[in-house]
Amino acid sequence: MAGLYARESRSVSKMAHLRFFPQAVVGGSGAYLTGDDGRRLLDFSASWGAASLGHAHPALRDAVNRALRDQAGASYLSSANEPCVLLAEKLLSLVPERARGRVWFGHSGSDANETVARVVVAATGRPRLLAFEGAYHGGTVGSMAVSGHPAQQGARAAGLTLVPYPNSYAAGGPEAAKAAALAHIEQLFATVLPPEEVAAFFIEPIQSDGGMLVPPDGFFQAVEAICRKHGILVVSDEVKVGLGRTGRFNAFEHSGIEPDIVVYGKGLGGGLPISAVVGPEAIMNHAVAFSLQTVHGNPVCAAAALAVLETIEHDHLAENAASTGQALREALQGVAARHALIGDVRGRGLALGVELVVDRATREPAARQTALAVLRAFQLGLVVYYVGVNSNVLEFTPPLTLTKSQALEGAALLDEALADVAAGRVDETLLADFAGW
Ligand SMILES: Cc1ncc(COP(=O)(O)O)c(C=O)c1O
Repeated sequence: MAGLYARESRSVSKMAHLRFFPQAVVGGSGAYLTGDDGRRLLDFSASWGAASLGHAHPALRDAVNRALRDQAGASYLSSANEPCVLLAEKLLSLVPERARGRVWFGHSGSDANETVARVVVAATGRPRLLAFEGAYHGGTVGSMAVSGHPAQQGARAAGLTLVPYPNSYAAGGPEAAKAAALAHIEQLFATVLPPEEVAAFFIEPIQSDGGMLVPPDGFFQAVEAICRKHGILVVSDEVKVGLGRTGRFNAFEHSGIEPDIVVYGKGLGGGLPISAVVGPEAIMNHAVAFSLQTVHGNPVCAAAALAVLETIEHDHLAENAASTGQALREALQGVAARHALIGDVRGRGLALGVELVVDRATREPAARQTALAVLRAFQLGLVVYYVGVNSNVLEFTPPLTLTKSQALEGAALLDEALADVAAGRVDETLLADFAGW
């Protein structure tokens, strides 16, 4: 470990670190990053999905340059600006009718989910919220409060109830997973949790940080029906898997539901900080000065987001995510056929997960091997991280611009990494500095 990575440790705090290997980058283009040692790294994370168009995309660069050349202020708190208005108009056209009210802008998935958690309670007068075990809705106090991920070091909200997300692999099939998860919710409502006190149910259309769990067919339709019956708002957190990544613009579209509130972040700014909440006017206009930070709605990030949405549409990137995702998935299934470590390959489009297990029969999580696999992949030139409540799911959220040949290149690197892990060729002592999560 030398160079930039070592220098960083002498000046930069570790509090935001989530490190898996000694990665230090000095540049990037498309699906590749450039390491400070000059190596080219194929980026299958895209900074956890944030670099949705890949790195240094000309459309993003041009939009940011234009916005900075004649800068319409730095905030929407005390002034309207055109990029924000255009972006709001665009986002309203991309959500279902029931969510088509007003748009709030923030910096991150965290501040967006925190804002939703506060406003739904304030606007409905209902004190309780529902979310899933394993859900990651953010890293601020208010967004951790409505999350269920075990890695988080923050308290849950007093009014929060967490329910199990259906895990088809663990349950031995989607129907069993769906039935158990729905029965749990019904049982809660019939006993300890008065549904008329619940303001909203936060859902992830694919539970990404919890392990890239794909909901069973019909599950979210049943959840939606329960919510409608009790007047509970459905909040779809599209922060990681929305905006074309699954092959459709909104990830909830695969489940055939129409959420009341939609939350976007990460890839919305293509790497620049911007998030958005879209929902009904009665909720979104609940009060003025309710949730604000100084450079919220800044025109530079809004212009970047507009460029991202235009590029997704113009370059058919949702379609690319579907077809390249299919190619990547098939390649990963081929890798799975050669490695007993792989228990499951799942996901939609370019939101894919590979679960590593010690034993396919018992499905015991292979956390140590997962940490070794991502470390070895990095040494070979592939950037991929892991997620999951048991730290054993490789997560693939590459740029939406990924090509089929890049998909195959990445799968081949993973193949080699897993072979090295299985053969004991990876130095385990290197893991000491990388806690992951
Ligand atoms: C589904 C989901 N929601 C919200 C967030 C929080 O986003 P951010 O870290 O950009 O605040 C994340 C981050 O991983 C996420 O995956």
